[in-house]
Amino acid sequence: MPSLKNQTLKLSEKISSLQTYYWESLNSTQIKAKELAKQNKTPFLVVADCQSQGRGRLQRNWESPAGLGLYFTLVFSTQIPKEKLPWISLMGGLALKEVLDQESIPDLVLKWPNDLLSQGKKLAGLLAEAHFETEKNPLIFLGLGLNVHQDQKDFSKTIQNQATSLYLLGSQNLNRASLLEKIILKILIEIKNLEAQPHENFLRRWEKESSLLGKEICFTWEGKEKQGRVLGLNSEGHLKVESQTKEILYLIAEDSTLIK
Ligand code: BTN
Repeated sequence: MPSLKNQTLKLSEKISSLQTYYWESLNSTQIKAKELAKQNKTPFLVVADCQSQGRGRLQRNWESPAGLGLYFTLVFSTQIPKEKLPWISLMGGLALKEVLDQESIPDLVLKWPNDLLSQGKKLAGLLAEAHFETEKNPLIFLGLGLNVHQDQKDFSKTIQNQATSLYLLGSQNLNRASLLEKIILKILIEIKNLEAQPHENFLRRWEKESSLLGKEICFTWEGKEKQGRVLGLNSEGHLKVESQTKEILYLIAEDSTLIK
């Protein structure tokens, strides 16, 4: 079986335009990728076996123990228009879900904006950050964390009841290296498709794979907790919600949290 290190390095032979980097241990692949971006051509990929400061959305921590999960950041520049950048983390989630569907992982659903859940627990998360040198073609840092071999005891007490892994879902023999290859190839195809045809069909595909359409949710809005019913995604990838007072609100990933 290929090791995570060998497979990461081999990916740059398979995909000639992609430079790849591997570390046994990093603070965060997002942080390292931003340092490397100062002198590197894109696209490139940063993979680590473990992270000491793995980070999620809204500055949350991402637990990243050695040998158990998949942690990477893919860096690319994109021509996707600025207002459609939220599509990128949706696209990453969709690509990941479609790869894991082929591995028969049960009950997978996307949770807006950037989570992949199974049986109601978090299996993976994505973090897409954009850096604009100029108005056009921003650099995208697409980070992905996937829980692969973790047993219940490998999660901290704080997230033990909310997190799951492929192992806990019954996939004991999956290999991180081959999953990495499948996920990267799929994401690269999806990026190309999005750029060639920035079509809203993609958003309908995402809605179909998500758990939220028509559901009642709690969310934070301007610092307050509210409740409402999910109507879908708008053309920019924001979540359209009808509040209890019949207001139509569009949740933006950067400042909204779904509570349930
Ligand atoms: C989230 O659920 O809020 C997003 C989690 C993203 C975690 C990944 S792990 C690889 C990359 N490096 C980081 O520090 N974060 C992302």
